[in-house]
Amino acid sequence: MKVDVLLGLQWGDEGKGKIVDVLTPKYDIISRFQGGPNAGHTLEFNDIKHILHTIPSGIFRKNKINVIGNGVVIDPIIFKKEIDSLNCKGFDISDNLYISKKAHIILPTHRLLDAASEEAKGETKIGSTLKGIGPTYRDKVGREGLRVGDIMSNFDEKYAAKTSRHKLILENQYKFDYKELYEACEKDWFEGIELLKTYKLVDTEHLINNLLNEGKSVLAEGAQGTLLDIDFGSYPFVTSSNTICAGACSGLGVAPNKIGEVFGIFKAYCTRVGMGPFPTELENETGDNLRKSGHEFGSTTGRPRRCGWLDLVALKYSIMLNGVSQLIMMKADVLDQFETIKICVGYEINGEVVEQFPFELNGGEKPIYVDLPGWETDLTKIRSREEFPDELNKYINFIEEETGIPVTIASVGPNREQTIFLDKK
Ligand code: GDP
Ligand code: IMO
Ligand code: MG
Repeated sequence: MKVDVLLGLQWGDEGKGKIVDVLTPKYDIISRFQGGPNAGHTLEFNDIKHILHTIPSGIFRKNKINVIGNGVVIDPIIFKKEIDSLNCKGFDISDNLYISKKAHIILPTHRLLDAASEEAKGETKIGSTLKGIGPTYRDKVGREGLRVGDIMSNFDEKYAAKTSRHKLILENQYKFDYKELYEACEKDWFEGIELLKTYKLVDTEHLINNLLNEGKSVLAEGAQGTLLDIDFGSYPFVTSSNTICAGACSGLGVAPNKIGEVFGIFKAYCTRVGMGPFPTELENETGDNLRKSGHEFGSTTGRPRRCGWLDLVALKYSIMLNGVSQLIMMKADVLDQFETIKICVGYEINGEVVEQFPFELNGGEKPIYVDLPGWETDLTKIRSREEFPDELNKYINFIEEETGIPVTIASVGPNREQTIFLDKK
């Protein structure tokens, strides 16, 4: 059996959580492979909204194995909050969740280092979620990290060594006043560690490969999006992990020849939260309308998301990097009100037309748009392809022709049932 991968093709928040939940019945195992609680994945069913940060979005379906892979970074405080919130809603997930012993742990001081680093950058800050992601991955790559498996032995000693090194950096490099903030969260953090100990902490690379050999199927759930990838995103305004498909191999321990379908998920328009370039951004009333009708406010930080038209230059780049085999278009309903919808098919840079995503976006890219007619119809009640207005079919066909990849699912609302399978495969 193969590992199918579902990942974001834009700057995150494409709707990954919703679609993973919808696709979960077809799989035996759902696994996160990178990122951490910078992610906020929203699912809605039975009139309840759930936001997951660390736990895979397959957790609400019965008898599924959910795996937090080695590529993920875990904050014990946020993990405990997530578990507590699930328990409050009547979901006990302890039997179905497996956590990699090789996943790295976010320490309280990692979060403080994130805050100190952003503060020091001032105007040039990344707009990080302040969850400690950058400093934790930095320690991982710098061979200074603390892993889930370390909880088992001499943990206090290891923790003290890491923390005191971080405190020195906070004091000496950043002159950051950390003491009060640190004391406020250390107790919660240790409670989170105690909770983690009660879960199945295993070598998930063996678990997943053994299950694949037994004929079980896996869906790998990406976090963030391709344009936030540490290598290929709009550096330095990116996150600190490989969000692309290759990240699923290194973040789960599965070989490249085990990858099956690659579902690339995108919004029918574009959003970005945090700083950094965004060629099709609309800093005008149209952008405000998109934000309003799409409820574009961050699931993790509540920040307003920047909004703009769909960018095919960026989308094609993302498709190439990931080997996308099926496209999933989200939030088509958010465009219901528009008489005309624009799609960016190229950039004009220094008077030249560019269709290939450049080395760096620096704000000098003038989007070249094609205008398509809007459908001006309420899509949220639609449940089958036959009910699609012609203009929506044209919009989808245009994207398929430009990218060469079929759109196999279109989403017309946040709920499970507002998902239309287009039956092309
Ligand atoms: P993720 O991080 O990729 O899982 O996406 P988020 O959960 O951060 O953001 C997606 C938001 O859009 C959530 O609030 C979802 O409930 C919502 N959503 C998902 N699909 C649709 C859709 O088709 N239409 C509308 N209107 N909202 C959607
Ligand atoms: P999901 O999985 C949208 C953005 C932050 C910031 C940059 C770096 O919900 O799609 P970090 O905290 O990772 O150091 O922040 O990346 N970012 C996201 N934007 N969705 C996310 O996750 C994001 N995770 C990080 O806003 O610009
Ligand atoms: Mg999100």
